Amino acid sequence: MNILLTGGSGYIGSHVAVSLAEKGYGAVLLDNLTNSTADVVSKIEEITKQRLALVVADVRDTATVRAALRAHDVSAVIHLAGLKAVGDSIEKPIEYYANNVQGTISLLQAMQAESVKMLIFSGSATVYGLPQYLPLDEHHPTGATNPYGRSKLQVEEILRDLVRSDSNWRVASLRYFNPVGAHESMRIGEWPRSSPTNLLPIIMQVATGRLSELQVFGNDYETIDGTGVRDYIHVSDLAEGHVATLDYLHQNSGWHTFNLGTGKGYSVFEVLGAFERVSGRKIPYKVSQRRPGDVAACYANPAQALAKLNWQAQRDLVEMCSSAWGFAQSDCVK
Ligand code: WQD
Repeated sequence: MNILLTGGSGYIGSHVAVSLAEKGYGAVLLDNLTNSTADVVSKIEEITKQRLALVVADVRDTATVRAALRAHDVSAVIHLAGLKAVGDSIEKPIEYYANNVQGTISLLQAMQAESVKMLIFSGSATVYGLPQYLPLDEHHPTGATNPYGRSKLQVEEILRDLVRSDSNWRVASLRYFNPVGAHESMRIGEWPRSSPTNLLPIIMQVATGRLSELQVFGNDYETIDGTGVRDYIHVSDLAEGHVATLDYLHQNSGWHTFNLGTGKGYSVFEVLGAFERVSGRKIPYKVSQRRPGDVAACYANPAQALAKLNWQAQRDLVEMCSSAWGFAQSDCVK
């Protein structure tokens, strides 16, 4: 059974491809390579010992997506292609709506035309906006506060309408919290082509001397130590959550949402401390102003994923930091 991964050569996509292979699924990657490189294919093949097809294309090229669905006898799609930086989306909203919303519509048109009606969508906890209660469950009101989050919310609304219109569709939106870390082989991991905005990749840049210090965006939040609290989840746990969802969709039609988080929040200083203990490296930092759009705390109630998918995160913060550090020092990083 072949699964098409849009954005498949990216950070999340490459780890999902490995988890799919481990469970006997075939994966086909479709990626425009704006934030990844084709050499990740050989790394995934090294890990899985299986050949892997890469289609270099933009998901907005509907005809090419249709051809890929046909040529590889695809039975389901995991849609990871999209832009994901909050600050960037505020500066370039049209780019975000074009990539994230228009791209999804193009994919759905291709799937509809080829009668492929099983989809997992890469959602985000940003659709919850400012948390009204914590931990966040799937019933928490949605209300994004930036173009990136709104694009994710708009796609979820489109998917809901699609499922309402045709009961043959089986669709799940996986609302990611904060994916971090690298595969245990250290052959694949997170190393964005553009300058990173997320905490862990920036800590890696400081630890490897590419950046002089970390800016801590505010220490006056009402949290354990004043810094922002987030639900960091190991990317391999996240990847395994996608495979568990695929198994679930084979038994359950309709529309579903699942929070993929650990249920535990860590502050910036707690992450920093964990990384310093793991790496033996001191990370110089300076406390600066809060970053616009940041919330004080955001972490998941992952009970629904456990109850329905029989999935829960297995890896702890030490493993997240040590795998990220191992990958940052590997020869896979330029
Ligand atoms: C984490 C914490 C920052 C950088 C974003 C997206 C979200 C998801 C994950 C895709 C916050 C602090 C960060 C730095 C810092 N992406 N920080 N200095 O903002 O929770 O979520 O990435 O789905 O949609 O919004 O992640 O890693 O940017 O920040 O102090 O240089 O680290 O203030 O408290 P965030 P992040």
